[in-house]
Amino acid sequence: MHLKLRLLELIVGLLLVQVKSRPQANPCQNFYKVACGNWSSSHETDSYQSFMDQLDYNYQEKLADLLDNEREDDEPHFVQQLRAFYTACRKPLSQDQVLRILEHLIAMDNIQTEQLTVGLTAAFRLKVLPDINDSNTYDIWKQLLSNREHWDTHTTNREPLTREIFDKLWANMPKVPFLFKEYYWHEMSKLEDKIMSYGIKDDASARGDLVTGIPSFWMMPWPNGNITYENLFEIAHLLDLKTDEFIVVYIYMRLKLVPEGLSKESWHIDRDQCAEQSTQILSHPAVWLVETTPPRLKEEPVLQDIFEELKHRFGQKLLANRNNFTPHSTSFWSKKKRMRLRLSILPRNCSAQSMVRRIERHYRDVHMNASDYFGNLNIGLNHSRSQRDYPELWAIVFGHEWIPSRTSKSALYRTQVHGYGTFASAFYIVKQNMLIVPLSLLEPPFYTHGQPAILTYSSLGFILGHELSHGFDSEGMTFSSNGVDNSAVDTELEWNPRFQQKLDCLDRRFSNRRYEKFADASGLELAYSAYFDTAQTDHKRKRSAEELVAQKQQFFLNFAQFFCSNKELDKEAPDHGSDRKRVNDAVAHFEPFREAFSCGPSPRRRQCRLY
Ligand SMILES: *[C@@H]1O[C@H](CO)[C@@H](O)[C@H](O)[C@H]1NC(C)=O
Ligand SMILES: *[C@@H]1O[C@H](CO)[C@@H](O)[C@H](O)[C@H]1NC(C)=O
Ligand SMILES: *[C@@H]1O[C@H](CO)[C@@H](O)[C@H](O)[C@H]1NC(C)=O
Ligand SMILES: *[C@@H]1O[C@H](CO)[C@@H](O)[C@H](O)[C@H]1NC(C)=O
Ligand SMILES: *[C@@H]1O[C@H](CO)[C@@H](O)[C@H](O)[C@H]1NC(C)=O
Ligand SMILES: *[C@@H]1O[C@H](CO)[C@@H](O)[C@H](O)[C@H]1NC(C)=O
Ligand SMILES: [Zn+2]
Repeated sequence: MHLKLRLLELIVGLLLVQVKSRPQANPCQNFYKVACGNWSSSHETDSYQSFMDQLDYNYQEKLADLLDNEREDDEPHFVQQLRAFYTACRKPLSQDQVLRILEHLIAMDNIQTEQLTVGLTAAFRLKVLPDINDSNTYDIWKQLLSNREHWDTHTTNREPLTREIFDKLWANMPKVPFLFKEYYWHEMSKLEDKIMSYGIKDDASARGDLVTGIPSFWMMPWPNGNITYENLFEIAHLLDLKTDEFIVVYIYMRLKLVPEGLSKESWHIDRDQCAEQSTQILSHPAVWLVETTPPRLKEEPVLQDIFEELKHRFGQKLLANRNNFTPHSTSFWSKKKRMRLRLSILPRNCSAQSMVRRIERHYRDVHMNASDYFGNLNIGLNHSRSQRDYPELWAIVFGHEWIPSRTSKSALYRTQVHGYGTFASAFYIVKQNMLIVPLSLLEPPFYTHGQPAILTYSSLGFILGHELSHGFDSEGMTFSSNGVDNSAVDTELEWNPRFQQKLDCLDRRFSNRRYEKFADASGLELAYSAYFDTAQTDHKRKRSAEELVAQKQQFFLNFAQFFCSNKELDKEAPDHGSDRKRVNDAVAHFEPFREAFSCGPSPRRRQCRLY
C-alpha cells in the first residue's frame, strides 16, 4: 500500500504543480500521459518496463528466493523438477554448448517449433521463452530484432557469407543426409542479399522511426544504411517464411562466425529470468511453491464481494434491456450471472494432498537434469505440447480468452504471457463461465491487504469488470452458463438491429480490438458505479463536493496507472503505445471522467454501447 499511495501522491502532486505552472499534458486529451508521464523516469534503474511487468518481476523474485534456498526433505517430485530446471538454467553456458545443441537439432529429421524455439533461445540468448505457437516464429524474430539492450559490436558479425566461407563452414557441418549444399547456398545468399538491401534507400528516414543500433547478440548480416522499424518487421517476416530446418542450419553457420571472444566468455541467465522460464515451463509447480509458502487467500471475501456487486450491476443493465431482446434470451443471460470467480490458477476447493497428487500426475513424466539446460527446455516444451492432447488439462486460446475443450471445475491452467502481456492477468473461461485471477496479481504495488476501497475498486474492480464483460461480448454471449453454445441466441443477436448497429460502431472504431475496447469501457463503468454509488450512501466515504472531485480524479488516476510503461519509448511496433491508447480510449467517452477533469461534453462521437 505504501508504494502505491506514494506513487499516487507523487502523481497527484505533479498534477497540481503542472496545472499551476505550465500544463504539460491535458487530462482531457492524453490522460495516459498525466497518469504515467513520470513512470519511466522514476523506474529508470528497475529491471522491468511497465507496471504490469513489475508484478511479474516481484513474483519471479519471490520464486527465485525460494529456489535459491536449500531444498527441504520430502519435497514432491514436481518441486524437485522445478529446482533442477532452475539450477541448470543458472549455470553459465558456453558458445560451445550452444553449438552442440544446434548440431543436435540439425541431426534430427523433423524438428518442430518447440525445438526451433530452443535453438533460437540458445543462439540469440532470447531472455524469455516465447509462447509455443505452431505456425508462428514471426513474433520471436520481432522480439529478437527489437532487443538491443547490451549490444556489443565485438560479438556481431555484420558481413554476409561469401561462397568461400560458406564452403568452409559446410565442410565442418555435422554430416546429415538430405541436406543439399547448393540449395542451401542459394537460399542463404538470397536471404542475405535481401536483408542487406534494406536501409539503402534514401527515403528510409522519411518513412518511419529509425532503428538505432544492432540487436543484442545478433550474428546475422546487418544493413549498413539507416533502417526503419518497418524494415525490421519485414526482415522478421522474411525469416519467419524459412523452414525450421533451414533456420537451424543457418544460425549454426552464423554462430560459428562469431568472433572468438564470445566463445571464451560464457554467458549466464539472471535469476529472475530463470525463475520466469521455470514458471513458463513448469507453471503449476512454480505457482504451488510460491502460493503454499505462505498461503495467501485472505482477500477472497473482499474480491468475491466486489465481484458479486459488479455482476449485479451488469445484471441490471441486462434487465433494462435496451436492445429489446426476447424473454428467452434475457433469461438465458440472467443465468450467466452464476459466473464464478476463482483465485489462483491452481484448483481450489481440494485438499492439500489431493492438490499435490494432481500436480504430481500432471508432471509425472517430466525428468529434468540439473546440468542440462537445453535438454530441459526440450523436455519442458515437449511436455507442454503433449498436454494439449489431454482436453481436461489444456485450454486453447480463443481470441483473448480461453475455452477448454471440456468442462472441469478444477482443471489445471498454465500461466502464460502470450496474449495477456503478463502472467498476472486475469482471464475468463467461456465454457466454464468462470473467471480466474492469478494470485500474483494480488501483490503490491497493485494490491495490499486492507488497502483503501477506492484503490481496490479502481484497479481490481476494473479488471474483474473487464473480464466479466467478456462473458457478454457477442462471442461470449452465445454460451450458456454451462458453456454450451446456443444457436437460437446467436440468431437473435444477428437479427437484433440495435445490437448490430452498436457492434458496427465498435467495428468501425476499433476493428479487431472491438471486444477489448468494449470490455474496457464496460469494466471501467461497472467499477466506477460500484464504488461511487455506494459512496453516496456510505457515511465513511461521504465527502464534500470538492473532496468528491478529488476522489474521482484519484479513482481514474489509479485505474490508469495499471497501464503505465516505458515501452512507448521504443516506438518499436504499431501495436505498441497501445497502453496509452487503452487508457485514453477507455476514458474518452466516459461522462464521469469528463466531469471529474472538467473536460466538457464528449467531443464528436459518443461511446458505442452494446447494452
Ligand atoms: C519524475 O520522478 C523523478 C523521481 O521520483 C523525479 O526526480 C523527477 O523530477 C520527476 N520528473 C518530472 C518531470 O517531474
Ligand atoms: C499463433 O500465432 C498466430 C499469429 O500470430 C495467431 O493468429 C494464433 O492465434 C496463434 N496461436 C496460438 C495457439 O496462440
Ligand atoms: C542515418 O541517420 C542519421 C540521423 O538520422 C544521419 O545523420 C546519417 O547520415 C544516416 N546515415 C546514413 C548512412 O544514411
Ligand atoms: C467448495 O465446496 C463446497 C462443498 O462441496 C461448496 O459448498 C463450495 O461452494 C465450494 N466452493 C467453491 C469456491 O467452489
Ligand atoms: C545430465 O546432463 C549431463 C550433461 O548433459 C549428462 O552428462 C548427464 O548424463 C545427464 N544425466 C542424466 C541422468 O541424464
Ligand atoms: C516428447 O513427448 C512425447 C510424448 O508426447 C514422447 O514420446 C517423446 O519421447 C518426448 N520427447 C522428448 C525429447 O522428451
Ligand atoms: Zn480482455
